[in-house]
Amino acid sequence: MKSPDNLKIIPRDITVNLTDALKEKPYWLDNDPVQTHFFNALQSAFPEGERLFIDSARDVRDKYNDRLSETLKQQIKLFIKQEAFHGAHHEEWNKALSEGGYQKIAVYSQWFRKRRLVLKKRMSPLYRLAMTAAGEHFTAITARLNIHGDPEFMGSIDRPFRDLILYHAIEEIEHKAVCFDLYQQAGGGYITRILGAASFTFGMIFHVRRIHVYLLKKDGLWNKETKRKARQEVWGKEGLVRKLLPDILDYLRPDFHPWETDDRTWLLKDFKEDLKEYGIDPPEYA
Ligand SMILES: [Fe+2]
Ligand SMILES: [Fe+2]
Repeated sequence: MKSPDNLKIIPRDITVNLTDALKEKPYWLDNDPVQTHFFNALQSAFPEGERLFIDSARDVRDKYNDRLSETLKQQIKLFIKQEAFHGAHHEEWNKALSEGGYQKIAVYSQWFRKRRLVLKKRMSPLYRLAMTAAGEHFTAITARLNIHGDPEFMGSIDRPFRDLILYHAIEEIEHKAVCFDLYQQAGGGYITRILGAASFTFGMIFHVRRIHVYLLKKDGLWNKETKRKARQEVWGKEGLVRKLLPDILDYLRPDFHPWETDDRTWLLKDFKEDLKEYGIDPPEYA
């Protein structure tokens, strides 16, 4: 299995004013503080997370350059460009949260930055890339779930957050296999791929959970009811983990490849007009 020949990875830059948007709609997801803050917490890890992804892709590319195909080298460039734009948006999102009264977001970001630098020093490029490949799988399956798997989800998000999530989802799907292919072409093995995925998963659960709790506490909303709801949203029967489980388990197969599911056409079927509205040309495969 390999990435499709007609794959297009297109770095796009869009401008959004999140500070004003957050002031206007603090609970931008279905007017629900638990769900909104879950996504605020999840995205808060992304500026540093995406730096980790970019760094590890660059390091492995440079170390194993002679093993890589020219197509992949080109895809890596485009992946880095896309992630750099995403990082800037998440940076702005975090700034908007800090300015909106959640000052500790900056402290958490610093903590996360230190962790990233320690990882860079102590772990091999291939191990960090194994974490990255898992991170990319997670973002791609979450994108697929948000756009395709749960028809009501996108409709419950206020703009411009909806635009931002849609735009990210498209690009995460376009580049979903770049780090995976790089890991394989560089000669990365199965055991390290799975260990890297485990490190990524535990790190992310810990980080998102503590920021989610912080945001809700800051609003005076950390109580029995919201604790229960937060647990259900993630771990419950209708929760995120349960919905993503089949895709998570797929990743554990030794012969897994991200493009065994081609989600490009699903992704754009319902959102072609939205894309045009904020200046993004729907890719040709739509
Ligand atoms: Fe991204
Ligand atoms: Fe990504």
